Amino acid sequence: MRLITAVIFSAALLFGARAFAATPVAATPPMGWNSWNFFADKVSDADVRAAADALVSSGMRDAGYVYVNIDDGWQGVRDANGVIQPNAHFPDMKALADYIHARGLKLGLYSSPGSKTCGGYTGSLGHETQDAHRYADWGVDYLKYDLCSYIQDVMQAQAPRDPDRQMQLMIGAYRRMHAALKATDRPIVFSLCQYGWDAPWEWATGTDIGGNLWRTTGDITPEWDRIYAIATQQAGLAAYAGPGHWNDPDMLEVGNGKLTPAENRAHFSWWAMLAAPLLAGNDLAHMTPATRAILTQRVVIAIDQDPLGQQATRAYADGEIEVWTRPLQGGALALAIFNVGSDRHAGSHPMHLSLSRLGLKSGQPAHDLWSNQVVTLVEGMPIAMQRHDVMLLRIDAPVAALPPR
Ligand code: GLA
Repeated sequence: MRLITAVIFSAALLFGARAFAATPVAATPPMGWNSWNFFADKVSDADVRAAADALVSSGMRDAGYVYVNIDDGWQGVRDANGVIQPNAHFPDMKALADYIHARGLKLGLYSSPGSKTCGGYTGSLGHETQDAHRYADWGVDYLKYDLCSYIQDVMQAQAPRDPDRQMQLMIGAYRRMHAALKATDRPIVFSLCQYGWDAPWEWATGTDIGGNLWRTTGDITPEWDRIYAIATQQAGLAAYAGPGHWNDPDMLEVGNGKLTPAENRAHFSWWAMLAAPLLAGNDLAHMTPATRAILTQRVVIAIDQDPLGQQATRAYADGEIEVWTRPLQGGALALAIFNVGSDRHAGSHPMHLSLSRLGLKSGQPAHDLWSNQVVTLVEGMPIAMQRHDVMLLRIDAPVAALPPR
C-alpha cells in the first residue's frame, strides 16, 4: 500500500513538474504596468509597492494587469563575486517580489546585454548566467532586455563597418540570455528591446531566442504624433504575432502628458487592435477616474486578449480616416475607425464608413465598445468624431457582402 502511494505521489510530482515546465507564458499579450514612462529612473521600492496596491484597488489586476515591471534604474553594483545588487532605492528585492506575489501579481525587471543600460546602470555583459539565476532566486517573472551599450561594447567594437556581423552579434546576445533564463527552469517572459532594428519579428521567436515580445520601434512619448507614427508603422506586421510571441509597439502612455480624452481612447483602442502588450505607463496611485475608466474598459481589453491572437491589419486609409480590422475567435470581427486628422477643423465634419471596401454587407448590428451601445452599420454611414478619436466596434456575426456578379 505504502509502495502504491509512493508511486502515485512520485507520478503526481513528475506530472506536476512537467506541467509547470510546460506552462506557456504570454499566451495572450502580457498586461501590467511598467515604471519607465512616468517615473523614468527616479523609481523606488515605495513607488513600485504603490503601483502594485493601485493595480489591486483600481480593479486593474482583476481586469488582467498582472505584471509589475521595474524598468531601468533599480541596479546598483556587483559584489566581489560578481552578483548584481540593487541600488539604495531598492533595499530588498526579494521582499519586494514577495509583496508583489502576495497580491496575485508578478514581478518584471530590466537589464541590458551591454556593460551599461541605456540609463547608465550596470548591465549584464559577461554575467548573463549569474544574473538569470539572481532574477529567478528573487522570483522574477518577466525580463525586458534592452540593447543599449552592447551596440558600442560588442557590435561596433568587434565588427566595425560589418552590419551583417553586427546583426549576428546582436542576435547572439538575445540567444545567450534566453539560454540563461531557460536554465533557471522558471517561466520568465522574455521581452526584447532593440528598437525594431533588423526586423526582429523575423527572428526573435526562434526556439533558441525565445522572444515572447519584441519592440518594433523606437521609444514612445505621450504625444499624439508619436503614438500615431508608431501605430501606423505596425501595418504589415500582423503575420508575425500570435500566442506566445507578440509585436511590441512600446508601453502605454494613457494618462500621461497632455493627451486628450480622445487621444487616450484612440491610443488604447489601437494597442488593443494590435494585440499589443498592455503595460500601463502612468502613475497608477494618482490617476484620474477618466484614465482608470479607459484602462479598465473590459470589452476593449477583451479585443486585445482575444485567444485567437490575430493582430489587426489596416483595411484602408483615406486622408483623415484609417480603418483597421481584427478577426476574433468564433468568427467575430473588431473594427476600428480612427480620425487621424490633426488640423483644428478635423472632426467638425462627419466621416463616411465604406462597408463594401471591408467586404461587409450593409445593415448589420455591431457593439460600440466605448459608448456601450448597439449600432446598425449601414453603407456610407456618417460618423461624427473629433480629431484623434476612435470608433471601436465588435461585430459578433459579421455578414459578408455578396461578391459583385
Ligand atoms: C530605452 C528603452 C526604453 C527604456 C529606457 C530605459 O530607451 O527603449 O523603453 O527602457 O531605455 O533607459
